[in-house]
Amino acid sequence: PILANVTAKKGTFHFGSTFDTYEADQSWFTSTFTTFYRHVVSENGCKWDATEPSQGVSDLTECLATQSFATAHGNTFRGHNTFWHSQTPSWLPGSFTAAQITGTIIPQHVQAEIQGMGSSVTSWDVVNEVIGDGVSNGMTALQCVQNKGDWPTVTSDGSGKALVTDLSFIYAAFNTAYQYAGSSTRLAVNDYNTGGQDAKTACSIALIQNIQQNTNIPYNRLAVGFQSHLTASTGGFYTKQALASTFSTLGALGVSTMITEMDIEVNSDTSANLRYQAAIWGDYLDACLYASNCFEFINWDPRDDLSWRGTSAAATLFDSSGNPKPAAYEVAARL
Ligand code: XIL
Repeated sequence: PILANVTAKKGTFHFGSTFDTYEADQSWFTSTFTTFYRHVVSENGCKWDATEPSQGVSDLTECLATQSFATAHGNTFRGHNTFWHSQTPSWLPGSFTAAQITGTIIPQHVQAEIQGMGSSVTSWDVVNEVIGDGVSNGMTALQCVQNKGDWPTVTSDGSGKALVTDLSFIYAAFNTAYQYAGSSTRLAVNDYNTGGQDAKTACSIALIQNIQQNTNIPYNRLAVGFQSHLTASTGGFYTKQALASTFSTLGALGVSTMITEMDIEVNSDTSANLRYQAAIWGDYLDACLYASNCFEFINWDPRDDLSWRGTSAAATLFDSSGNPKPAAYEVAARL
């Protein structure tokens, strides 16, 4: 069944990595994004601070440059992200009320970015990391989002939680995205420490259902992204069965799934660690390939020396000289 599903997905499955033009070692990037990675997301260039440096002034320079790199190498491109509490422009925090952010600031920003990047973007992280870490089972979507502690960075109208007395800021982002995105672009909620049968993953499922019910965006245009920033030593990762079960729950609704930011910190690159890392990577890719609704698999940072986890974390598929690690072979054997 795995092979049958992979065959069925040929041409619609997108496997790739982050890229930002300023970190390019041209020859390595050119060859690796031609022969191995086939899909690109901008590591930082499409975030709010980069794309709206002054209020109402859209600057898609780096986001477009990364998309052009993808296109030039025959790769597809996905968008990350239109709303996040982090990497916001300096004009945003503290300056606006929640009502202004929901009514004007978010719709303007989402429209400028999504319209500006065009209809070929495979998917957008419309909202990134909006679910709290202290959630428990059975919480409503609103409670899941209220549990997030970081809102004071984007609103300051007297109450740091003002933005989340309801989810209208999320509906505003999704309604705008749906209006201006390409007709097959998927619109995603994206988060970390999600994927299995736990409270935070249940929140991701509750949130995407809540968004559908309040925006009427069809389920087949919605997606849930699983960042998958893993740490091998703490066991903070899921089995492929656990992932498959979550993917299938979302698939039954018609919602797509994707692994959006995979990396696995191992800290020392002994051969045992690298084999362990490779096995986890294989499980995640198997779970995605096996699921009929998982269409994108993105690795966060293309090689260890560029990893946000730190070079010594050895968290990516290629070492600091750009040589493939066991995990790269594990992945290549599946694609
Ligand atoms: C990280 C980038 O990799 C870093 O270069 C940057 O300094 C901070 O952000 N979750 C996300 C990504 O959604 O946007 C983050 O990327 C990593 C965690």
